[in-house]
Amino acid sequence: MIDGKIIGELEKSALEEISKAVNFKELENARINYIGRKGKITSTLRAIGKIPEEKRPEMGQLINDVKIKVSNAYEAKNSELSSGLSDKDPYPGDPTLPGRKNWQGGLHVLHKVTKEIKEIFYGMGYSLTEGPDVELDYYNFEALNFPSDHPSRDAQDTFYINRDILMRTQTSPVQVRFMEKNTPPVRIMSPGRVYRNETPDPSHSAEFFQMEGLYVDKNVSMVDLKNDLTFFVKTYFGYEAKLRFRPHFFPFTEPSAEVDMSCFVCKGEGCSVCGKTGWIEIMGAGMVHPNVFRFVGYEQDLYTGFAFGMGIDRIAMLKYGINDIRHFLNNDLRFLEQFWRQKGWE
Ligand code: DAH
Repeated sequence: MIDGKIIGELEKSALEEISKAVNFKELENARINYIGRKGKITSTLRAIGKIPEEKRPEMGQLINDVKIKVSNAYEAKNSELSSGLSDKDPYPGDPTLPGRKNWQGGLHVLHKVTKEIKEIFYGMGYSLTEGPDVELDYYNFEALNFPSDHPSRDAQDTFYINRDILMRTQTSPVQVRFMEKNTPPVRIMSPGRVYRNETPDPSHSAEFFQMEGLYVDKNVSMVDLKNDLTFFVKTYFGYEAKLRFRPHFFPFTEPSAEVDMSCFVCKGEGCSVCGKTGWIEIMGAGMVHPNVFRFVGYEQDLYTGFAFGMGIDRIAMLKYGINDIRHFLNNDLRFLEQFWRQKGWE
């Protein structure tokens, strides 16, 4: 039977539920529960017909008043939630704080360095050409004058797909691929990923990057090689940088050299970066070996050329003071992000 007590209790619990609501879902549940079509207050109002006639006006008035009160409380709570203010959270946030920026990625540091190196060589008339990572033994070794039983192969062990197909150990095979299809003058650079069977340590990785260069024409000499490499190093590392050519052996160049740059940290005095020598090795280079020309069908008496190959990872490490080659491929954003914020890197 409906009486004042029941209605009073209904009012109390409805108002309590509404005031406790901390989000729209809870508030909506309270509404449905009490003043919705099948809500407790609504059905009490409907049941008024069942009480003795003389009590109906009084009870009807009472329930109606409660329904209005509860509806008002609902409206008030609704606008409170909409404005973000609620009793439980009187400080919804500091509206003067700057908004959140959208997260934005950036290019990988090795990609950036490759781009920068490419720009410098484009300026000297080099064009870009690329070759496959999965390479034939023929291009990676044989045609570069590494016979199959030659010990010079030992320094470049790699991952073999089968006897004839392997993961390339250097970008030099692109030289052969390009010369097979093009006649001189040839002036190309070829960046890319290379692979070696190495145990990773701070300066070795089983996967790294190289930039190959090749220039073949009539009367190309070592002076031209020195000129282009000097221009590159001075442009990239600063005008005071000096180059040094040390005799070396590579099967596909003769004469061959390892190229050192004067240490940009100590300016040649000797420090920990250059191992106290004042010089830092940055690439291999030399004059294209006549056997390579024979493999690609170039006239050995007519043309000469030079080639060079640098480790992009190493250049990046020197340029940005990175002390471990493994950082490049760990995909750790704490490392990679630093280079996105560098000036001029947008
Ligand atoms: N491919 C050589 C290496 O990975 C580097 C190199 C040396 C490239 C001499 C050249 C070159 O083009 O002429 O060790």
